[in-house]
Amino acid sequence: MPKTAVSSAAFTVVLLSMLVTAPYTVNATVTCGQVVTLLTPCIPFGVFGGDVPPDCCAGIKGLHDIQNTAEDRRTACSCIQKGAAMIPGLDYDRVNTLGDRCGSPCPYTVYPSTNCSEVN
Ligand SMILES: *[C@@H]1O[C@H](CO)[C@@H](O)[C@H](O)[C@H]1NC(C)=O
Repeated sequence: MPKTAVSSAAFTVVLLSMLVTAPYTVNATVTCGQVVTLLTPCIPFGVFGGDVPPDCCAGIKGLHDIQNTAEDRRTACSCIQKGAAMIPGLDYDRVNTLGDRCGSPCPYTVYPSTNCSEVN
């Protein structure tokens, strides 16, 4: 293989890895993947009640820390809403108490009827 082909392949790899890492380092915007990872430990509480698992409160606090702008909060709201819609038997009233229970009040509530575009 000619040398130029090897170095252009290496260059492509460098470019690709810049593309992959850039969105996370340049913009600290919230993604649905982050929200789902943080809130998954809260699902048993949301469905069955009982004690709030410590991992769930850690997730609620983590979410609180990453949603710094109205845009972040709108994104997180709609991710939560979409995720919640897939969980049969989820008690929305109970879920919406989590911010207070964990000491990180959430600036919005999420119900199936919530218009996340109006979250500020
Ligand atoms: C949600 O709110 C936005 C902004 O006020 C509005 O444009 C949109 O039509 C609303 N969507 C629904 C489904 O009500």
